[in-house]
Amino acid sequence: MIGMLAKRFVQPNSNIYDLGCSLGAATLSIRRNIDQPNCQIIAVDNAMPMVTRAKQHLDAYKAATPASVICADIADIAMENASMVVLNFTLQFLNPKARQQMLDKIFQALNPNGILVISEKFSFDDSKINDLLFNMHHDFKRANGYSELEISQKRTMLENVS
Ligand SMILES: C[S@@+](CC[C@H](N)C(=O)[O-])C[C@H]1O[C@@H](n2cnc3c(N)ncnc32)[C@H](O)[C@@H]1O
Repeated sequence: MIGMLAKRFVQPNSNIYDLGCSLGAATLSIRRNIDQPNCQIIAVDNAMPMVTRAKQHLDAYKAATPASVICADIADIAMENASMVVLNFTLQFLNPKARQQMLDKIFQALNPNGILVISEKFSFDDSKINDLLFNMHHDFKRANGYSELEISQKRTMLENVS
């Protein structure tokens, strides 16, 4: 879906930001789907191992649109001339007080008709629905090779910020 949105909304001569890029999945999808001239993708993550692997993934494919991967805190980077910004399950890692500031910064950087794609986890008042989604999400992670330790570490990281 991120790729499909990129196809429709990325503008020529503009920047695309993938904030909290992890292994670069969103950047890869964007790059595969755009053919606008003179664009560049800036992927950012503050975990060096993620940056290293994202670079390897991106280098493995040829593409017309240049993509750079930067190791930095997304709160610290300068952003401008953006036609697309992606926050794919990243905003949740920021301290709740820092989230609005981040969204304001993105708004200022976006060109008219540019888009912010934001994906977040939800919690529901209904505990049955909450438990169902929680358990299905963890089953999905197990099915995709995450260990119990990785799943519990991620959960702890998120609980520490929300
Ligand atoms: C759930 S992953 C994001 C998945 C990724 N966007 C994708 O589409 O595959 C969250 C990522 O955000 C990064 N992250 C968390 N806080 C960050 C921050 N303040 N600045 C930069 N990256 C951050 C983490 O290192 C992690 O790789």
